[in-house]
Amino acid sequence: MHTVHSTPSIGLTSRPSPDVDSDLLVIPVFEDDDLGDLAGLDEASGGDIGRARARGEFRGKAFDVLVTPVRGWKATRVALIGMGPRGEFALDQLRRAAIAGGLAARQRRMTRVAIVQRSGTGLPSERAAQAMAEGVVLANFDAAPYKTTEPPVVWLEEVALRVDGESPALARAVDRGRVLGECSNLARELCNEPGNSLTPRVFADRARAMATAAGLKVEVLDETRIAELRMGLLLGVARGSQEPPWLIVLRHEPDRAIDGPVLGLVGKGVTFDTGGISIKPAENMDKMKDDMAGGAAVLGAMAAISRLRAPVRCVAVIPTTENMPGGRAIKPGDILTSAEGKTVEVLNTDAEGRLILGDGVWYARQLGATHLVDVATLTGACVVALGKTTTGLFGRPDSWVEQVRRASDRAGDRSWPMPVFDDYKELLKSEIADFTNTGGRAGGAITGALFIKEFTGDLPWTHMDIAGTAWAEDAKPYQPKGPTGVAVRTLAELALDGDSWGKL
Ligand code: BES
Ligand code: MN
Ligand code: ZN
Repeated sequence: MHTVHSTPSIGLTSRPSPDVDSDLLVIPVFEDDDLGDLAGLDEASGGDIGRARARGEFRGKAFDVLVTPVRGWKATRVALIGMGPRGEFALDQLRRAAIAGGLAARQRRMTRVAIVQRSGTGLPSERAAQAMAEGVVLANFDAAPYKTTEPPVVWLEEVALRVDGESPALARAVDRGRVLGECSNLARELCNEPGNSLTPRVFADRARAMATAAGLKVEVLDETRIAELRMGLLLGVARGSQEPPWLIVLRHEPDRAIDGPVLGLVGKGVTFDTGGISIKPAENMDKMKDDMAGGAAVLGAMAAISRLRAPVRCVAVIPTTENMPGGRAIKPGDILTSAEGKTVEVLNTDAEGRLILGDGVWYARQLGATHLVDVATLTGACVVALGKTTTGLFGRPDSWVEQVRRASDRAGDRSWPMPVFDDYKELLKSEIADFTNTGGRAGGAITGALFIKEFTGDLPWTHMDIAGTAWAEDAKPYQPKGPTGVAVRTLAELALDGDSWGKL
């Protein structure tokens, strides 16, 4: 197996673009762009750029790419990346341009890239620098580590970001972007691992190593301890597997923490979901190796939170288990008792994520969380509702959900709010226990969220359903097929912004 990601060195420069040295100089270009701030570019390309634009070969439509050699400039070639209309430009476009440029360089076996921030976009240089740094690191990910017959993977090694000005704030922004990109890649790496290599035991070991390296406090509770805590939901799901469950607990306790708030992050860590006795069809079951993407996102986010010294205290809880149909597995109709004491009639053993999260969320409250966010590949229904590019947000109060939504905006993780009206609760009514674990097809993503809500006490809580967004099925110029690392940057941005919501 070869390595899956690599973090390049990233430097800043304010030199004129012709003086920026690289194999590939990446230039975002708008539709109807006069390239006024890049005097001499067309001449340097021997008129190639002008001709390509006149012919309509390159019109600046979103993520069009034109690579052409340049003479008299320090760079060997330039890559124009289409950005669409200037009026629709946003920070996320720039991050994606950096990814597309980085991927284009790697495809051409180039290791030194530079990216130009265009003038007149209205973006503060710090935000631009952070997004570009995130982008180039995200471009340095390879999802096929078990291929033994392909030529070795090429990594970006040296990156220069061309922005206006130089300041300590800019350098910090680059550092922030680099760490956020790297921690996203760590989560992607774990998601990409198949179920036979990333078992719950291995996930817990990897979490311990990653957390320690990032300066977090880490504790891994074993099955005995989980039983002492009476986590009947987590134990119930784990019964069908030969592998015992583990409960990963991470803590970020900064020196001068904001007084009061404790962010509680909870991630679903099902390392493989067969559905259990309510077994899934064979087709696409292999996809269920990424059913720990929520747990990996929480782990990656906590590493970033610690490395970037977020001002708010955080606790993270990641219950990890397999969902298997072994001889001792739970059966439809079985009743489980949660650590909180509430009873659940398990109508479908494939609705296992909400079960383990129920105990996980409860435990985050025991550890002192004041604000909760859980992340899970929870429901196929969420994919039906929002598709493959938007994460579903659920929770209460609206103001807390909105904080998470805004953090996801800054992070470039698209998300959108969904309702959790009490009217849906009757769908979880049980004849025999406090509630069931499934509410049927209608509103399936919402009833999944409502189940978790039962365990949140009265804390502010947001649930992120990443079933659609954790894995990219189609390659895009700015997003290769495979694990996306969704929610890592959202959760980190949320914690980094603790100053603003922590005092609410
Ligand atoms: N891990 C799945 C959800 C999922 C489905 C993730 C598709 C990614 C893609 C989850 O454990 C599950 O099986 N959910 C069931 C719930 C149902 C039984 C109420 C589902 O969505 O079908
Ligand atoms: Mn399932
Ligand atoms: Zn699942």
